[in-house]
Amino acid sequence: MICSISYYIKIVFMICLLSATELVKCKASFEILDPSYDQKNIKIIGQRNKKTVYVIIVEDQLYKEKYCVKQYCLADKIFDSLIEILISGIAESANVPVNRVKLIPAEVFFPGKFYKKRMATLHTFVPGKSLHSLHYDPEKFSIQQFKKERGIFGITRTIINFMSSSPNLSQIAALDTFTGSQSHGGGNILFDEESNDFYGIDLKKAFRKNLSRLAYENIKKMDAEKLFTSCQIDALKIYRDTLKKLIARNLPSDICKKLDALVKTTNLNNKFVPATRKCKVMIFQNYDSAQKLIVLLGEIIKKHTK
Ligand SMILES: Nc1ncnc2c1ncn2[C@@H]1O[C@H](COP(=O)(O)OP(=O)(O)O)[C@@H](O)[C@H]1O
Ligand SMILES: [Mg+2]
Repeated sequence: MICSISYYIKIVFMICLLSATELVKCKASFEILDPSYDQKNIKIIGQRNKKTVYVIIVEDQLYKEKYCVKQYCLADKIFDSLIEILISGIAESANVPVNRVKLIPAEVFFPGKFYKKRMATLHTFVPGKSLHSLHYDPEKFSIQQFKKERGIFGITRTIINFMSSSPNLSQIAALDTFTGSQSHGGGNILFDEESNDFYGIDLKKAFRKNLSRLAYENIKKMDAEKLFTSCQIDALKIYRDTLKKLIARNLPSDICKKLDALVKTTNLNNKFVPATRKCKVMIFQNYDSAQKLIVLLGEIIKKHTK
């Protein structure tokens, strides 16, 4: 009996340890955004600038946490930054391994902020190299659910196969389905060779498509054509369970309210009226279709376990 109690204590300890590891890599305290925080502790340690975006890596020397300060070169891209914050909040509700994103308001000075008077976003720095730089073949190893150029319109069996190689990928794929996100091509999925974990970054291209409806149609068709393998079913279970959490914790009306609040912070409400309207339509459509998708996945999983 004593032995079995210590065994259970060990298990609980391991679970705590595992969630703590996840906490460190994906989340952060964001204490550095507090107005009372002494910004002298924040040091610029690198940059990953691209033609269209400034990404400055900073380190909080007090808590030893790394972050990226991101700003698009074009002021028009502010809406994309707001979407990144919105999607990060949704991801956080279901513990999906993508970077967490917070707003650095326009008027706030922050080390690494390139355009001082424009808003920026602060992202937790995630470890690893992109699948693209690790030369993963996008035809076989990708979870991107919409890519016209490659003829990808919704989830495919190849995507499900890749999802089966790590629970992280099924979770990110579920987030993408629920939020109609198209960003997670090989450049925006990082693989950490130390922990064997995958992380998503770059959350801007969301609520542009109803990927939940496409997933419903594609999975229904796949199931009719050929039974899913055990590995594929395991991946679909994590995908379904993550979708369930996302649905339960993110009502479409709440997502819309959060979007409105974010738009309001910019004082550019009028400019973003059409984009906000389009986005809201997609929020509701994806949510409705995701509910149907969960029922379908439940039937498929049940059939497999019989
Ligand atoms: N949270 C992050 N952690 C680590 N690296 C990041 C993070 N965010 C961005 N980067 C780096 O900056 C690059 C550009 O950022 P990304 O968000 O993909 O911008 P874009 O919208 O231009 O594609 C990425 O390819 C990656 O190298
Ligand atoms: Mg990118």
